[in-house]
Amino acid sequence: MENVVGYINSHKANYVEELKDFLRIPSISTLAENKNDMLKAASFVVKKLADAGMENAKIVETKGHPLVYADWLHAPGKPTVLIYGHYDVQPVDPIDLWDSPPFEPTIKGENIYARGATDDKGQMYMHIKSVEAYFKTIGKLPLNVKFIIEGEEEIGSSNLEEFVNKNQDLLKCDAVMISDTSLYGPGIPTLTYGLRGICYMEVTVTGPNRDLHSGTFGGGVGNPINVLAVMISKLMDSNGKIKIPGFYDDVVRLTKKERDNFKKLPFSEKQYAKALGVKELKGEKGYTTLERVWARPTLDCNGITGGFTGDGAKTVLPSKAKAKISMRLVPNQDPIKIGKLFSKYINKIAPKSVKVSIKDLHGAYPIATSLDDKATQAAAKALATVFGKKTVFMREGGSIPIVVTFAKKLKAAPVLMGVGLNTENLHSPNEHFNLNHFQLGILSSAYFLDEFAK
Ligand code: BES
Ligand code: MN
Ligand code: MN
Repeated sequence: MENVVGYINSHKANYVEELKDFLRIPSISTLAENKNDMLKAASFVVKKLADAGMENAKIVETKGHPLVYADWLHAPGKPTVLIYGHYDVQPVDPIDLWDSPPFEPTIKGENIYARGATDDKGQMYMHIKSVEAYFKTIGKLPLNVKFIIEGEEEIGSSNLEEFVNKNQDLLKCDAVMISDTSLYGPGIPTLTYGLRGICYMEVTVTGPNRDLHSGTFGGGVGNPINVLAVMISKLMDSNGKIKIPGFYDDVVRLTKKERDNFKKLPFSEKQYAKALGVKELKGEKGYTTLERVWARPTLDCNGITGGFTGDGAKTVLPSKAKAKISMRLVPNQDPIKIGKLFSKYINKIAPKSVKVSIKDLHGAYPIATSLDDKATQAAAKALATVFGKKTVFMREGGSIPIVVTFAKKLKAAPVLMGVGLNTENLHSPNEHFNLNHFQLGILSSAYFLDEFAK
């Protein structure tokens, strides 16, 4: 390890420069205009994997954005780790709120600012640098490694899912290493053992066959925005309970032990509220904030449109209104089943004055992994060595759709060893990544490979 660690420590500046090159590529998966950038980012990853010393580094075409695969399988008798990450990023809007352009990586203090810095380019890149350090020093890896890097995580991973289903032999492994989550706090070594799932729906309400003068017709027909607002208000009660019949049927209750473990983590409701600029926190009654965001399902309206939204006033009774509504799910809720329950309920509460159509945009299954798996223990030990503290275990409210597919199809334990921070503005303006954590993440990856090979 000495040589590997020495190499990593002496290449810090190079790593930052390379990461900057990666971050300059605007690989926004959801926008058609960035299609070419997706190929550019995938090619960048292929080249870096090959330069690092990985074999068979290549682009794999899909119906959507390309996948990247590489492997090095010359450690017979040793376990195989599949390293997963994503090179796609979220859109940058609202662009006006960025202090520096999202695709011109800018270093301020300990942080590098750019879209994708923490989610997930910076975190994914740590593993490429970790294997490189092995190849450049001792010339080999302590175990077998495969990489699968995708460009559609932020849009639901459906093409990777198909690829995993069809290529179970190619991806066969003993553990899946993923750095796409957060530390519990700065400098705190953390493993995430649970992710929420998601069911993302779009509801369109149509009233009159065209926009109308709101004076002439107001009072005569149902207004789709008013109707939609009333419908949304019927999705949740004042205690934060979701009113869709059957919604909670499959929810695994929190155990006393888990609730006690959550309570042991340092957490201040006051600071949490203050950091978010709210006077009071809000959520499901009977649960603490950590319980609500990690282990209880929720329903949120992500966006609502309709009618006139420009400056000034226009008197219009709109023909249409639309809402994007997502539900975060916990074990053992099934996004497909929840989508059906949602649609049934929406159709039931929709008045006859409007037409309602519902679209299922995407979904992901929730997961809670076992803490005593060998790979998880190896990661906990690696993190503790590098950060110099005991590793803490947490759950996460966000989702990584492919993790459940890996667990089910490859029957391999997912290890969520992320080193981001939830304060690093992922999906919002001024996304950044702490460069000390970046460096510690490279070291943690290297120690993990060493530890899991034992
Ligand atoms: N890396 C995130 C998941 C995440 C968020 C982990 C916050 C830890 C902290 C991932 O890229 C993500 O954003 N997932 C989406 C998935 C969705 C588009 C299906 C999410 O959770 O919204
Ligand atoms: Mn991510
Ligand atoms: Mn994301």
